[in-house]
Amino acid sequence: MERRGPGEFVPCHPEPLRKDPNLVQIVLGARHNLIGGWMAEHYRSGIDSFRIARRQIVVVNSPEYIKYVLVTRHANFERKSPQMRRALEALLGDGLFISDGDVWKKRRPLVADIVHKRRLPEFGQTMEEAALSVADEWARLPEGAEVELTEEMGRLTAAIISRAVFGKSIAREAAQQVVDGFSAYQRAADSFNLGYFLGADEGWPALGGRKRRQAIAMVHGVVENVVNAHLAGEGDAGSMVDLLIRRNQRSAAAPLDVTALRNEAATIFMAGHETTATTLTWAWYLLANAPWVAQKLHEEIEAVCGSRPPTLSDLPQLGWCRAVIQEALRLYPPVPLLPRQAIEADRIGHINVEKSALIMIAPWLLHRAADLWDKPNHFLPERFLNGASINPFAFIPFAVGPRICPGMNFGQDEATLCLAILAQRFDVIPRKDYKVEPVCRLTLRPNGGLPARVMQRSTERRM
Ligand code: HEM
Repeated sequence: MERRGPGEFVPCHPEPLRKDPNLVQIVLGARHNLIGGWMAEHYRSGIDSFRIARRQIVVVNSPEYIKYVLVTRHANFERKSPQMRRALEALLGDGLFISDGDVWKKRRPLVADIVHKRRLPEFGQTMEEAALSVADEWARLPEGAEVELTEEMGRLTAAIISRAVFGKSIAREAAQQVVDGFSAYQRAADSFNLGYFLGADEGWPALGGRKRRQAIAMVHGVVENVVNAHLAGEGDAGSMVDLLIRRNQRSAAAPLDVTALRNEAATIFMAGHETTATTLTWAWYLLANAPWVAQKLHEEIEAVCGSRPPTLSDLPQLGWCRAVIQEALRLYPPVPLLPRQAIEADRIGHINVEKSALIMIAPWLLHRAADLWDKPNHFLPERFLNGASINPFAFIPFAVGPRICPGMNFGQDEATLCLAILAQRFDVIPRKDYKVEPVCRLTLRPNGGLPARVMQRSTERRM
């Protein structure tokens, strides 16, 4: 469903279901798209409990109860769902994204420190260089040539995160191998763990086909080589792997071994790559359909930067660019579901929660709750402008509480800066009549990608 009118744009989103799906529909639906199977009543704040086969599912969709789950009772709800753990464990091992308990407690400060916002200036230049290099490539395309935006944005954010994590000297092919390995792994990953719903509290181990095994071997091989090179003193000083190793050596607790270092480096790469790429892709789709917003954005870039390229230090002045990114994160949160497993029985509001129940917090639903947001399905970036006061438990694209995304500032600044650099020089025009459909397996992407033409903005039009 998508709607346009004079001065308004309601971007694509699935119609809510009219009647409860049965188990077969749930399983098939989840394998295709994890955001498609919600009823109209879920698009309001509240809390709901139902069963899928033998498992209790508690959908927590109000700021108050989200605070209870992710902050107040973090210790009981810190654990990711078996679904997510099983889907990612072969690739990420005990990496931060899926670990819990003592492992998570020990690693979190280490990882949070190396991606912290105070390090942004060190990585800002990498972001600028990578975005300018894509701009130069686009400028060399024949006029009217089409690109596929999820791929282009994936290439851009992979260049940034691989240089930030592995260091600039890592060969381009190695970074490409990691990206290809992740994509192949994601294609082979199953987004529904039937065993968990049939009663196995830890879920069933994911099946490992040949393609999946090859993908894992490729990612592990490349990342391990990078770690070993750094350990041998051959890596780039200042890369995240370098910082990880140096912090680790200074840590009083038992130091991480090569496998643990590999898992954390791979986790940061995975967590920071596709999330930012899809944010940018959705931002282009939204901007292209709201020329009145695009105009504000261009005027702002012109006023702040003139004809020189935007830099990290311009970001505080680029309010519209940031608001467009935030609105893209609201409408299309790259991580649209935050599933947790209750460690012990609990009570959320009036709902008795069973041990091992699936607690589903869905930024996808929360960000579109009709009683929390004015015109929730409209693209209205101005809702984030001028110090707007947004309830931090109603807008959670980076989660909230102790497990909040440690790369939040990195990701937000990266997306805003890349948008500003590319929007200064290009208009991005999606293929006419192309049907855009948001689908989620691990992240929320446009189904089949987003083909678009990139048109150089002439100097006069840039004014
Ligand atoms: C727009 C970009 C991004 C979005 C929307 C995003 C979103 C998220 C979300 C929602 C989580 C929590 C998942 C959950 O609790 O189930 C998370 C965790 C994480 N993110 Fe991000 N992220 C982004 C960029 C980044 C970047 C750039 C990095 C690193 C440089 C990063 C590193 C991580 C890590 C390591 C975790 C695991 C934290 C933990 O479990 O303690 N993310 N991210």
